Amino acid sequence: MQTTPSGVVLGIDVGTTGTRAIVVDPRGRILGGATAEYPLHTPRPLWAEQDPADWWRATIEAVHGALSAAGLRGDVVQGIGLSGQMHGTVFLDAQHAVIRPAILWCDQRTQRECDWITERVGAARLIELTCNPALTGFSAPKIVWLRDHEPGAYVRVRKVLLPKDYIRFLLTGEFATEVSDASGTLLLDVARRAWSAEMLERLAIDPAWLPEVYESPVVSGRVTPKAAEATGLAPGTPVVGGGGDQAAGGIGNGIVRPGVISSTIGTSGVVFAFAERPNRDRLGRVHTFCHAVPGRWHVMGVTQGAGLSLRWLRDNFGAPEQTVGRWIGHDPYELLTAEATPVEPGSEGLIFLPYLMGERTPHLDANARGVLFGLTARHDRRHVIRAVLEGVAFSLRDSLEILHEMGIAVEQVRFSGGGARSRLWRQIQADVFGRSGVTLTATEGPAFGAALLAAVGTGVFTSVETACDATLQIASEIRPVPSAQAAYAQLYPIYRDLYPALKPQFDRLTAAMG
Ligand code: XUL
Repeated sequence: MQTTPSGVVLGIDVGTTGTRAIVVDPRGRILGGATAEYPLHTPRPLWAEQDPADWWRATIEAVHGALSAAGLRGDVVQGIGLSGQMHGTVFLDAQHAVIRPAILWCDQRTQRECDWITERVGAARLIELTCNPALTGFSAPKIVWLRDHEPGAYVRVRKVLLPKDYIRFLLTGEFATEVSDASGTLLLDVARRAWSAEMLERLAIDPAWLPEVYESPVVSGRVTPKAAEATGLAPGTPVVGGGGDQAAGGIGNGIVRPGVISSTIGTSGVVFAFAERPNRDRLGRVHTFCHAVPGRWHVMGVTQGAGLSLRWLRDNFGAPEQTVGRWIGHDPYELLTAEATPVEPGSEGLIFLPYLMGERTPHLDANARGVLFGLTARHDRRHVIRAVLEGVAFSLRDSLEILHEMGIAVEQVRFSGGGARSRLWRQIQADVFGRSGVTLTATEGPAFGAALLAAVGTGVFTSVETACDATLQIASEIRPVPSAQAAYAQLYPIYRDLYPALKPQFDRLTAAMG
């Protein structure tokens, strides 16, 4: 007779390209997983929107897929953890219907609104209250944008939710969020882990629009009979707070103690460090957010276009790799990186600035643009591919340098995200950072972290740290190659000097393009 496993939890990550659901047992083994994709719409250059209905359709598909891959029925799932792309803004009306497409984290339309917020609150006060500056991707500037540009929609707003919290609403009927994702709204008092009355008042945002804030492992609601019917889960299954994708990914990578940091290449690139206190960067170049570990924080630097840069290359210049990949059943990314492998570190002097969607760390500049610098007739597509991989690693190093300036200890770097699947990209990171890095056996990141939070919230583990200790192991170590490290040590200062040299031209170009 087959026994029903106990302590099984479900992690759901509502990402930018798709929703991933995984079923995890108490030893951290993935019993089944599935992903369902959806489109990203760019109605204007540098705008990024999605239809929240697509997230819900994908959630239903991914949950069914994960349960069926695990060969389990929904009633075996003891708890659910949600994770998702951060900062995205969903506006609901009085009937709880979606008013307009969600405006996403990578959307860059709100520079004017950020300037208005900074002036109204004061730059220093903003960092005191929210630990962060006003950045175009964050939620509050999007609310202000709606007020100024779509007043007809704005008057109908009754609730504002983050992407995973909209899915929580459809799953449980509750309006709830948790501290890590709420940190990216610019409306949370990050040091006190509660909505900031002062920010809401200064921006004239109705506090009733915002959901209840929980700590990440706390149960925030239960699956309704209607959602149970749609997803195959059992009615009454608890749903814990979960985490923004970076904090949940931090849990999935075991970044729960000082000294261990992760470098994650997904669509964006993130260097993520644990913090016992809300350490702020005076210049706001890195984000200080609540961690999904109760009563703890994290500091992270964000490259807007990390995996996004390679995807851009694949989509626009990788037709041969995509065609050959289809014929021989190979991932086109593997073919692209294989072509770049024999090229010498430094790509014979070709340097890429990965600012295809503006840049956050360290420049905080929506006007920044992608650049290929140093191109000669000798360079071919292999150099360009390698330069893209290297440029992203240089940009992640910018974040590491700031953590260093802030006195945050770095003893171990853990490589994760889709980018860590590439041996070459891991090696380039180790060489550019000039330090060893490791990978873990668990590679699911945010969905895995969300599942661990569900396991903590439903009593499988007593704390987030215990959950990480019980389920995470190191899989491999990557050491820097001295000659490559030396090549990058020469090029990194040039990379660093390119942005300030080009900054006036980025601004002129933006003005010229209207
Ligand atoms: C974090 C951020 C991205 C998104 C999408 O601040 O904007 O990591 O969460 O992954």
